[in-house]
Amino acid sequence: MPVDIERHGASAVVTINRPEALNALDLEHLQETHEQLAALASDRDVGAVILTGAGEKAFIAGADIKYMRGLDVQAARAWGELGHSAGALLETMGKPTVAAVNGFALGGGCELALACDIRLASSRAKLGQPEINLGILPGWGGTVRLARTTSLGFAKELIYTGRVLGAQEALERGLVNAVYEPADLMPQALELAGELSAKSPLAMAYAKESTNLALQGEHRGNLATEARLFSMLFASADQKEGMDAFIEKRDAVFTGA
Ligand code: CAA
Repeated sequence: MPVDIERHGASAVVTINRPEALNALDLEHLQETHEQLAALASDRDVGAVILTGAGEKAFIAGADIKYMRGLDVQAARAWGELGHSAGALLETMGKPTVAAVNGFALGGGCELALACDIRLASSRAKLGQPEINLGILPGWGGTVRLARTTSLGFAKELIYTGRVLGAQEALERGLVNAVYEPADLMPQALELAGELSAKSPLAMAYAKESTNLALQGEHRGNLATEARLFSMLFASADQKEGMDAFIEKRDAVFTGA
């Protein structure tokens, strides 16, 4: 299969399966990734999604350069839009998305990791936006999300030079949330996804929706949205359960109601 899906309880692991090309995304692999993410986004049994790459070397070494080489302007536009749409699914689906960056995350690979809510990296990971060296620019959201995740000045440095970072520097720059030994990466990602899956799904979806507004739009409007989503949660059984559990000194059991 171009993309493998594995379930671990309420967590779904999406593995790009093209290790012979360092999981570079050609049309088949990008389309399949998109389809699988769309299906997981609407699957009520899934509480969190992990994105990773097959093999020991790469998360995703970018969009497939051999495929892109022959694109004309119109085809490049459609290709860019498909990558953007996959990124939008990761960024906006109503459940947390975690990138388990197990190796090279370059170009479109770094961009899909940036579209995830949280990035965990192996100490062997290498991240960057080397598109400038191919005569193009990051086309799946990198010019916007890298600056939002790190800083504008750092994003410009990486995008203009195409420099590739090691995991430690990525951590120091806020590009990844944590770095683990390679063997510990997936267990840690599964533990985090399991922890997040056990929260109230509705509270999680609204928390994500509101936090996604933080660096965009109009500040007062964003705060008004937060206030609206906050109050709506008081119609849920999960809000009663969460607060009852605190008062009764026990763990909450959320049902999504
Ligand atoms: N596209 C197509 N094939 C790729 C690829 C890519 N992005 N990255 C790696 N591969 C293929 C190689 O061509 C090679 O295939 P063959 O054995 O058939 O030659 C195979 O994967 C193994 O790669 P290498 O032999 O190059 O492995 P290496 O360990 O020597 O180097 C690497 C690893 C530094 C990641 C190097 O492969 C590399 O630089 N890859 C390209 C990275 C890149 O530029 N990514 C950005 C793409 S543009 C983009 O993503 C645009 C966008 O914004 C959407």
